[in-house]
Amino acid sequence: MPVINPLTVADKVTQTLKTGVFLTTQVDGKADTMTIGWGSVGLIWGKPVFTVMVRRSRYTWSVIEKSHEFTVSVPTHDMSAAIKLCGTKSARDIDKFEAAGLTAQKGKLITTPVIAGAGMHFECKVLYKQDMIADNLDKVTAERWYGDNDWHTLYFGEIVTAYED
Ligand SMILES: Cc1cc2nc3c(=O)[nH]c(=O)nc-3n(C[C@H](O)[C@H](O)[C@H](O)COP(=O)(O)O)c2cc1C
Repeated sequence: MPVINPLTVADKVTQTLKTGVFLTTQVDGKADTMTIGWGSVGLIWGKPVFTVMVRRSRYTWSVIEKSHEFTVSVPTHDMSAAIKLCGTKSARDIDKFEAAGLTAQKGKLITTPVIAGAGMHFECKVLYKQDMIADNLDKVTAERWYGDNDWHTLYFGEIVTAYED
C-alpha cells in the first residue's frame, strides 16, 4: 500500500467530504465507523493534522474520548450506500460493518482499523481536542447548526501515516 503525503491530497479529501468519508474509531476491540462531511487536512504545530468535528450525541464521540485516536478512510470510488448507512445509523443499535458490508482492516501504526478497499486512509492520534464554546460562535451559524444544543467537539489528529489501497 503506497504511502502518500497527506498535504498533497488535501483538495481531493475536501472534495470527497462533500459526499462523506468514513471516520473510524475503536475501543476495547469494538470498532465503529460513521460518516463525516466536515473536516480538514492541514499543517498545525509543524505536523500534518486531520481535524474532524464530532457531535457529543454520537457513539463515536464516546469512543474517541477513550481511545484518543481515529482513522479517516476516503472513498475513491462509489461507496454511497455504505456512506448513507454509516451516516444515519448508530453503532448503539446495529453493527454497521455487517450492515454496510464493510471490512475493518488493521491499522499500520495505531490500533484503530481503516475501511478496507475504500481508497485513501489516514491514521491519526489526537494531539488536541476542543469542545465548542457557544458564546464564541457567530450567532447566525449557531442558530443554523446548533438549535438542538448538540455541540461538536473538534479533534485535531496528527496524521501518523497516510496511504492508498
Ligand atoms: C453526509 C453526512 C455527513 C455527516 N457529517 C458528520 C460530521 O461531520 N460530524 C458528526 O458528528 N456527524 C456527522 N454526520 C452524522 C453521523 O454520521 C451519524 O449521526 C451517525 O449515525 C453517527 O454514528 P455513531 O452513533 O455510530 O457514532 C454526518 C452524516 C452524513 C449522512
